[in-house]
Amino acid sequence: MTFTFYTQIFFQPVQEVAEQFDTIQQAMASAEKIFHIVDEPQEEYVPETFAGVVPHEFSIEFQDVHLSYTPGQEILKGISFNVEQGGSVALVGATGAGKTSITGLVPRFYGIDSGRVLLGGVDVATLPAEFLRQSVAFVMQDVFIFSGTVLHNIALFDEHPDEQKVAEIVDYLGMGFMKGLEGGLHHHLYERGNNLSSGERQLISFARALYFDPKVLILDEATSDIDTESEAVIQAAIRKILTGRTSIIVAHRLSTIRTVDRILVVQKGQISESGTHEELVAKGGIYKNLYELQSLSEEEA
Ligand SMILES: Nc1ncnc2c1ncn2[C@@H]1O[C@H](COP(=O)(O)OP(=O)(O)OP(=O)(O)O)[C@@H](O)[C@H]1O
Ligand SMILES: [Mg+2]
Repeated sequence: MTFTFYTQIFFQPVQEVAEQFDTIQQAMASAEKIFHIVDEPQEEYVPETFAGVVPHEFSIEFQDVHLSYTPGQEILKGISFNVEQGGSVALVGATGAGKTSITGLVPRFYGIDSGRVLLGGVDVATLPAEFLRQSVAFVMQDVFIFSGTVLHNIALFDEHPDEQKVAEIVDYLGMGFMKGLEGGLHHHLYERGNNLSSGERQLISFARALYFDPKVLILDEATSDIDTESEAVIQAAIRKILTGRTSIIVAHRLSTIRTVDRILVVQKGQISESGTHEELVAKGGIYKNLYELQSLSEEEA
């Protein structure tokens, strides 16, 4: 008994050392990734070609834009369309068609191979990154919630958040769920927003976009299923955030598609159809198929 007991005592620290070694290795792998990001060269803030004039109206125009992330693999193959100041278009199409890629070119997240992207008639390649990032707001497919209060999550990076303004936005968007949160705007959210529903997370991201009053709004709609009641709240909020802003929406839901001026069908990096909902249904092409499929699945649901 004593012998067995001692051997156990002897092996316990050995096992602990092995476990620590595991942790160290994980930390090393993470550190490598962190340094990779730190070493990334900082993007220039003002391009050499900047003429000193920034646009005052915010129409968007794509002229025969080609994009490849890796050389030789063209993702966008000649995209041309325009959105007038204050107007809205929806992009619809299969997964991997290039919808998110198109939207990322407005704030110049990626350099393009050829063609031009114009914001208010000015080539975005010649505009300072800071100007672009201030004018264009993104509401992403998946919303990231930081650990902190609701207030801080809406007034991101603002050291002195304007509580009154946030309260007004919350009211305006009809974020009724806020009333149920203990502490209201000071309610603590956990990282990734595990204590919120996906609809609530989306509303927070809308409020975030409004707080900075962007001129251009890009909405990459989440595909997740949302109950009918939240759906109505979200649709009403979408209509509100679009008002007076030039917008591009990657739309998945029929109700969103209905609210835009024009719909573009993206297929394998090209725009294959464009028009209003009625025009495209009458045309009887890809859009009509998509629409019918979705109506069907909604009826089933
Ligand atoms: N940063 C990137 N680096 C390399 N390839 C990318 C990058 N982003 C997207 N891609 C590729 O580009 C293609 C188009 O992707 P994109 O995200 O634009 O599609 P999408 O139409 O938004 O699809 P979904 O409806 O699923 O969101 C895909 O084949 C994808 O793998
Ligand atoms: Mg996408």
